[in-house]
Amino acid sequence: MDKQHSIKRIGVLTGGGDCPGLNAVIRAVTKAAIAEHEFEVFGIEDGYLGLIENRIRRLTFNDVSNILDRGGTILGTSNKANPAHFCVGHNSAGEPIFEDVTDTALKHVSEHGLDLLVCIGGDGTMSGASRLVSRGLHVIGVPKTIDNDLAHTEVTFGFDTAVSTATDAMDRLRTTASSHHRVMLLELMGRNAGWITLHTGAAGGADILLIPEIEYNLEAVCESCLRRSKSGRAYTLVAVSEGAKPIGGQVVVDHVVHESPDPIRLGGVSEVLCEQIAEQTRLECRATILGHVQRGGAPTAHDRVLATMFGHEAVNMIVRGEFDRMVAMQGGRLTSVPIAEVADRQRLVPLDHPLVAACRATGASFGD
Ligand code: F6P
Repeated sequence: MDKQHSIKRIGVLTGGGDCPGLNAVIRAVTKAAIAEHEFEVFGIEDGYLGLIENRIRRLTFNDVSNILDRGGTILGTSNKANPAHFCVGHNSAGEPIFEDVTDTALKHVSEHGLDLLVCIGGDGTMSGASRLVSRGLHVIGVPKTIDNDLAHTEVTFGFDTAVSTATDAMDRLRTTASSHHRVMLLELMGRNAGWITLHTGAAGGADILLIPEIEYNLEAVCESCLRRSKSGRAYTLVAVSEGAKPIGGQVVVDHVVHESPDPIRLGGVSEVLCEQIAEQTRLECRATILGHVQRGGAPTAHDRVLATMFGHEAVNMIVRGEFDRMVAMQGGRLTSVPIAEVADRQRLVPLDHPLVAACRATGASFGD
């Protein structure tokens, strides 16, 4: 029998941190699956958590109408629920107890008669998917994250919206920085990858960009700020990644989510830098941590289009029998890569990236 003819019922879940465009993918997958192939579609609530807790519901055409422009995810999500490493409680010392509950998840898949899952998520979600694949379940992955750091795809949906939101913030900081002749730092998300900062810094004309891939030298950062203030351009805009760190130093950890498979949450480097720059330069400094605003709100037109193409391609892959692979964009073309090759990997900014060179050429410093 043709592989695609064995697929009749598919499940869809959104895992990890949310981002704009998730609903556009859910819509594209559900509509294309129902209208073009008469599949039955089931939505799994809160990512792998709903699979473990058996919260699975039928999705109809109407359920996914009018959600294209809506941020977040109508299915909910969780970034603490990898079935292979799931927190089932805490010991008397308050430490989490982890168990492999993959069997429970697979039992619920089979109770609902699901032939395949479409897992929309980042590296953590692909890691969970990879484990399910190794247990014999068919999965198609769709690459999501504002961080744009998934391996083997040059773009993820959600990134464009995050950069657009962050650029708006940087534009606003420029006017107030200029009025008060201040050094303004804008701290951006991205974990250990500097994509959001690089693109926001380029689009917002940041004077200094501090990204995790290029460790900064505090002296060089202060030098740049002082040079600008002396040259009459009496303010400085600094775009700084939450994962930026000084040469030979450490990242700033905001808190630890012990139940999460990826427990470290970064944050606060801009506040540390703000104090250090103020002390060393005597310039007035302010730090803004943009935070989860970058993950919220309506997707840009670009992300709606990308999410729709990714979702439709996921269904095309099911029909072609191209299982256990993630949709990817390479050289501007849709393609796919094995999910196992994406799991637990991060795509960092290469030091010879043309946008790094363009920023340097237009006068920006990377603090090195
Ligand atoms: O991966 C997306 C992301 O927003 C990162 O940029 C950030 O470091 C992290 O998630 C924040 O996680 P949480 O939503 O758990 O605070």
